Amino acid sequence: MTGIFITLEGGDGAGKSTQAELLGQWLEERGREVVRTREPGGTRLGAELRRVLLHGGEEIGDVDARAEALLYAADRAQHVAKVVRPALERDAAVVQDRYIDSSLAYQGAGRVLDVSEIRTISEWAAGGLWPDLTILLDLDPSTGAERRRARGGTADRLEAEAIEFHAAVRDGFRALAKAEPHRYLVVDASQPVDQIHTQIIARLATLVTR
Ligand code: TYD
Repeated sequence: MTGIFITLEGGDGAGKSTQAELLGQWLEERGREVVRTREPGGTRLGAELRRVLLHGGEEIGDVDARAEALLYAADRAQHVAKVVRPALERDAAVVQDRYIDSSLAYQGAGRVLDVSEIRTISEWAAGGLWPDLTILLDLDPSTGAERRRARGGTADRLEAEAIEFHAAVRDGFRALAKAEPHRYLVVDASQPVDQIHTQIIARLATLVTR
């Protein structure tokens, strides 16, 4: 594969979609085909899984942590097979909101499942595909929640979790980044949008000229 696979990670309200949009534009200006996508929900099957996972409400009752992990893995399997791999095979740049690291941080660190087990099922689901670059937009979870409230959004099933859950997720992401500095770029997401973009581009420039 000669495409480039970039994922954005971080908590609620960290600004992933804004940065994904700016990054996509930057790559397009350099003549790349860009596929913007996300997990969960990047396929038709995934859209159904996303609805259940985030907005299932009373209808689905209490979701067991392992069941949740497998639903995210199912979404990922379909998405990698139908969207991500085909795009990379035709040399596109895939700019994706959330991937395996979200499962490791939310289901592993957040739900306190064994991170190595989550890694195993996620890798199996993804057929071993890892990103070329993962951008962690690191933000204090209380700031993220404030931003969401300011946007007037209502909390989905995961956003509604306690602050301790979100703090564990953040620590989980930071530990992942520390363990794999060659794949990760950690950016302080409390900075202005253009400054964050500049830092992302500086790192990406080393990758796209490879
Ligand atoms: P999304 O709308 O992408 O969240 P945000 O706007 O905060 O980026 O919703 C995805 C939610 O699903 C988010 O709370 C994180 C969670 N999630 C997991 O728990 N595990 C996963 O593997 C993925 C991809 C997402």
